[in-house]
Amino acid sequence: MSEFIITAHGPVEQWTINGEARRNALSRAMVGELEAHIKRVSDRSVRAVVLTGAGDKAFCAGADLKERATMRPLEVADFLESMRKTFRALEKSDCVFVAFINGAAFGGGTELSLCCDLRVIAPSAELGLTEVKLGIIPGAGGTQRLPRLVGQGVAKDLILTGRRVPAAEALSLGLASRIGTIDDALSLAKTICENAPIAVSAAKHAIDEGAHLDLDSALKLEQEKYALTLGTEDRLEGLKAFAEKRAPIYRGR
Ligand code: COA
Repeated sequence: MSEFIITAHGPVEQWTINGEARRNALSRAMVGELEAHIKRVSDRSVRAVVLTGAGDKAFCAGADLKERATMRPLEVADFLESMRKTFRALEKSDCVFVAFINGAAFGGGTELSLCCDLRVIAPSAELGLTEVKLGIIPGAGGTQRLPRLVGQGVAKDLILTGRRVPAAEALSLGLASRIGTIDDALSLAKTICENAPIAVSAAKHAIDEGAHLDLDSALKLEQEKYALTLGTEDRLEGLKAFAEKRAPIYRGR
């Protein structure tokens, strides 16, 4: 059985974690397949991905705790390393990833959503880095990505308590940028795909890579990313379409 159900919606793919019975928890097989799909879209054939979970109970309930119980400490360390690598590859992809948090996202489930560029959350969903309640700490980037997104104070409030955060609070903290449905998430991804592909990926990487540089270095980085768009056909098409009062047709060149 495939770990993901892949559905095409024009330039957007929807990747649905196919593990409703285990609340879409992160197993070794699932992470392996996720890595393969990230590689598959590296040729830019897919512009944006909406990542979600099967059913309405969970986006992803974190590590597969049943599988984890059968693993020796060294195997756990190896698995965490493969999760870190896969999550980083997702984050560095030219593709835009939108997490649609359709239900509970705890531990590794929240960490997976934090690697995505945007998070849309269902009104009844909750997320949280709950690991300290299980005697561990977030091990797939949570202690590093959460403070970068919401600041150290809020991150410590969430990580040290391990509490579950409802959708409305996630929105107010900036953990999610919208509350909505799968259609809202797909429509957000499609809107992004209407823009010039090279410009979108350059902007994404400028934001990600510049976030923790000093301002002078960050502005230099922005200049380098801007330069990637200067020689493109799409930049000329944007100007031409504006002059001709029509929608641009971008080709990613
Ligand atoms: N790993 C493996 N199986 C899991 C799981 C996980 N992380 N989370 C849930 N499941 C399994 C349950 O064991 C149960 O299996 P069973 O039917 O064989 O007993 C099934 O999924 C349904 O779980 P249940 O708790 O009844 O579902 P729910 O819809 O009421 O609640 C959650 C869903 C996600 C809120 C709840 O299961 C939960 O809190 N899970 C633990 C999440 C967690 O602590 N993650 C952090 C890991 S670091």
